[in-house]
Amino acid sequence: MESNLKSLKIEAENEIKKAEDLDEIYRKYLGKKGKITQILSSLKDLPEQERREKGKEINILKNFIEEEIKKRKSSFVKATEDKEEWIDITHPGKKIETGHLNPLTLVKREAEEIFQSMGFYIAEGPDIENEWYNFDALNIPKDHPARDQWDTFWLKTKDKLLLRAHTSPVQIHYMESHKPPIRIIAPGNAFRHEATDASHEFQFMQIEGLMIDKSVSVPNFKAIIEEFFRRFFDKKVEIRLRPDFFPFTEPSFDISMSCIVCGGKGCPACKNSGWIEMAGAGMVHPNVLKAGKIDPKLWQGWAFGFGLERLAMMKYKINDIRLFREGDLRFLKQF
Ligand code: FA5
Repeated sequence: MESNLKSLKIEAENEIKKAEDLDEIYRKYLGKKGKITQILSSLKDLPEQERREKGKEINILKNFIEEEIKKRKSSFVKATEDKEEWIDITHPGKKIETGHLNPLTLVKREAEEIFQSMGFYIAEGPDIENEWYNFDALNIPKDHPARDQWDTFWLKTKDKLLLRAHTSPVQIHYMESHKPPIRIIAPGNAFRHEATDASHEFQFMQIEGLMIDKSVSVPNFKAIIEEFFRRFFDKKVEIRLRPDFFPFTEPSFDISMSCIVCGGKGCPACKNSGWIEMAGAGMVHPNVLKAGKIDPKLWQGWAFGFGLERLAMMKYKINDIRLFREGDLRFLKQF
């Protein structure tokens, strides 16, 4: 019995040292059917003296095993506690990502600042318009072929509402509610029923400009646009004014700039021409002034409509307009 208890002690001691599940060890030795419990219950048949002596020895072993299990358990707890409290102060901290602005918002704000510093107010108009503001008031009567150029999305309403195809309707809203002289820009959304490609979207942004006074002229317009380009691109860029047609301006022209994406060599952004069309512009047509309740015999003005995405494309050398609204974080995180 004595040597039996000795080897049981060694066996239990070794198992407790290595054990991953101490409850299992407890059950093996001290549980209802455990080895120690069984030896203890086998003592009942021994004479009293012997039973007392053996009982004492076995109880010592039982206490020993209980104590060893307790010790090992507390070493587990200590190890995990130590781990939790351990701080490596040299470890780089977790970088908290901060939000940032979409490139179109950045460009819009920068353009607003430049024009504001030149004395322009910022005007706004609704994205949903009626035919009068989007077409008729801009000298595009019903059935005029120019309506095709600004084909847009129509709402299923009785009063024929539509998503504005350009920001030019803001000209009329502003003229109706303000007396000249007028000097405004109107940034906002525009919508077109057209196929997309590297430089065309069905939803995009424009910046409308309108200046009305007694003697404003084309050279005056050109000086303002050149100053805007110089400040926006922070360098002198090559721009080109060519005659164009818009029903709401006379004379009209388009403003293009040498493509910054390819350095004028030709790429998808500029349709391989080396030039990218940035804006339409011209002297405000007398019929438009009349529609805005301004007397064309007393006042004259010029207007322009820039594509905001095109400005952003040239500023950041972006070769596809569709990237702005795709929501690809790899693109957006660069700004
Ligand atoms: C117009 O929208 C006129 N309202 C501009 C104007 C205003 C002329 C005032 C005269 C006086 P146009 O359709 O050309 O014009 O568009 C003007 C600019 O918007 C273009 O030069 C281009 O930069 C941008 N743009 C036009 N269509 C798209 C499109 N589908 N996707 C992205 N940008 C476009």
